Amino acid sequence: MASKLVPYMYRSGPRALRQLQRTQWRAFSVTAPTRSDSLMVHRDTPENNPSIPFKFTAQNEGLIKEIVSRYPSQYKKAAVMPLLDLGQRQHGFTSISVMNEVARILEMPPMRVYEVATFYTMYNRSPVGKFHVQVCTTTPCMLCNSDAVMKAVEDTLGIHHGQTTKDGLFTFTEVECLGACANAPMVQINDDYYEDLTYESTTSLLKALQNAAEKTGAQPGTPGLAGDGYAIITGENRHVEGRPDIDQGRGYEAGGVKVPTPGPLSGRASCEPAGGLTSLTSEPWGNDMLRKDGEL
Ligand code: FES
Repeated sequence: MASKLVPYMYRSGPRALRQLQRTQWRAFSVTAPTRSDSLMVHRDTPENNPSIPFKFTAQNEGLIKEIVSRYPSQYKKAAVMPLLDLGQRQHGFTSISVMNEVARILEMPPMRVYEVATFYTMYNRSPVGKFHVQVCTTTPCMLCNSDAVMKAVEDTLGIHHGQTTKDGLFTFTEVECLGACANAPMVQINDDYYEDLTYESTTSLLKALQNAAEKTGAQPGTPGLAGDGYAIITGENRHVEGRPDIDQGRGYEAGGVKVPTPGPLSGRASCEPAGGLTSLTSEPWGNDMLRKDGEL
C-alpha cells in the first residue's frame, strides 16, 4: 500500500504547490473605464424635445410608402431602421420628435423605437455638424496609426472627439470598426469613406473641406438635406429615382476647391497589396467557362 501512496504523494505535492502559486483571481476591470460620447438616455434640450414638431416631407413620405411595402403588413415595424435613417437625413439628427413620428407611422410603442435608436450608434441623437468626421480607432486602424489621424483632426479642427466646432460645421466622433480594415486607418465623413490615411493626408482633406465650406458659404444645418453647403458642394449628384436628392458633400470640386475623392488616399485603387498584385495576376476566365445554354 505504502509503495502505491509514495509516488502519488511525490506527484500531487508539487502540483498542489504550483496551483497555490497561480493567482486564481483577477480584477473585474483591468482598464480604465471610458465614458461614451453620448448618454444612453434622453434629456430634453431646447433643440431636442418632444414639443418640437417633426413631419416627413412629401417626397420622403412617398419613399416611406415604398419601404413599408417591402414588409408584410403585420410586420411593418421591421421598417423602423430605414425610417429612422430617413428621419435623420431629413432632420439632421435622430431627435425625439423623429423617433415619435416613426413610432406613429409604424404603429409601434415609442419605447420600442427609442430602444433601436439608442442601441445603434449610427443614429445621432444630438445635432451634428455639416461634416460628421468619424475616426475609427479599433485594433486594425489603431495598429496602422489611427492615433495620427485623431491628432490630425484635433490639430486641424481644434476640437476633441465628442465635440463640434464653434461654427457648427464639423463634429468629431471616435467610432468602432467601420468595416474598411483592409484600408486602415480610415475615417467616415458623412456617407463617404476616406482610407489609407496619414497625418498629412487627413490634414489636407480637412483643410479642403474647410476651404470648400468657406468658399461656398456653407452654414450649419441639416446634413441630410440638399440644402445649403451640401447642395453647393457638387460634382456627383447622388440622385436615385424616387429618392430625395441626398447630396452629402461627395463633391470633387466646390467653390473652386478640390475636395479629395472618397476612397484610399494612398494611391491604391482599392484594397490590393500596396506593392502590387501577388496573386490573381492572370486574365480572368472568360465567358467560355459559363454555360452557353442561356440558363445562366
Ligand atoms: S478597424 Fe477601422 S475599419 Fe475596421
